Amino acid sequence: MARILAVGNATLDIINTVDGYPPEDSEVRALSQEHRRGGNATNTLVVLSLLGHDCAWAGSLADEPDARLILEDLQSHHIDTSALQHSSHGKVPTSYVTLNSQNGSRTIVHYRDLVEYSFTTFSQIELSRFDWVHFEGRNITETEKMLEYLREHHPDTPISIEFEKVRDGIEQLYGYADLLFFSQGYARQRNYSNAESFLKHLSSAISDASLICSWGDKGACGVTAEGKAISTPAFPPARLIDTLGAGDTFNASIIDNLVKGKSLDVALAEASRLAGKKCGYKGFAGLLD
Ligand code: FRU
Repeated sequence: MARILAVGNATLDIINTVDGYPPEDSEVRALSQEHRRGGNATNTLVVLSLLGHDCAWAGSLADEPDARLILEDLQSHHIDTSALQHSSHGKVPTSYVTLNSQNGSRTIVHYRDLVEYSFTTFSQIELSRFDWVHFEGRNITETEKMLEYLREHHPDTPISIEFEKVRDGIEQLYGYADLLFFSQGYARQRNYSNAESFLKHLSSAISDASLICSWGDKGACGVTAEGKAISTPAFPPARLIDTLGAGDTFNASIIDNLVKGKSLDVALAEASRLAGKKCGYKGFAGLLD
């Protein structure tokens, strides 16, 4: 069991399940609606907590009624929320998710007006109690200050960063991580059409770090810190039910395997399996059954 801190978002996900993705400017009736806690960092923590780790979250919440659902969910997964930053203004970040019951695809319209998590709040965390710190690659200026501080005061703590979307200045964060997670969307925004060529390009610029790029139903590729290229196929379930949070599950499983001392090769295959399994269930319940 490891002590893991993740810095990033918790959201309210309002999920409408529909029988096929609707055409623009149409009106369809949802088969069902759920309100769930979401957000990449906290999804990853929930999975890590289910895998037996001791987890803590650093992120922002607005003081408004929808924050309660988020906090209750985190508490039910024993996630320490003592480092959270309260804001008296705004709303919790909210995702309006259309989940297609035909293929499990999730289309997200996201709304955010909440103040970002600050370096000042982060610097008050007792960081020596963590074995691993994971960051979402966003809120770049403040995140870079957090990374600098962590590197300076706790140089031996492993750091992972998720790069999901290209944002101004995001490459500045590359050099701080021991492990970098890239999404298919990120590689495509950089004009790469497959994970191998994207990672090959990156590994010539980033040394001493492990790189991973997941590619949906094509599986995922990686490059170890020593420069060895590895890959895994995808393991889709018999029926795709819900792909929301599959990437966050994948990241959690990689971290879980690495903190247990497994190789990146093993971690990649295990993570692909668990992310595939997640797509066969709604939410994260049932993931470890
Ligand atoms: C899934 C997810 C959702 C959230 C959205 C935020 O990966 O974290 O739970 O609404 O992405 O971008």
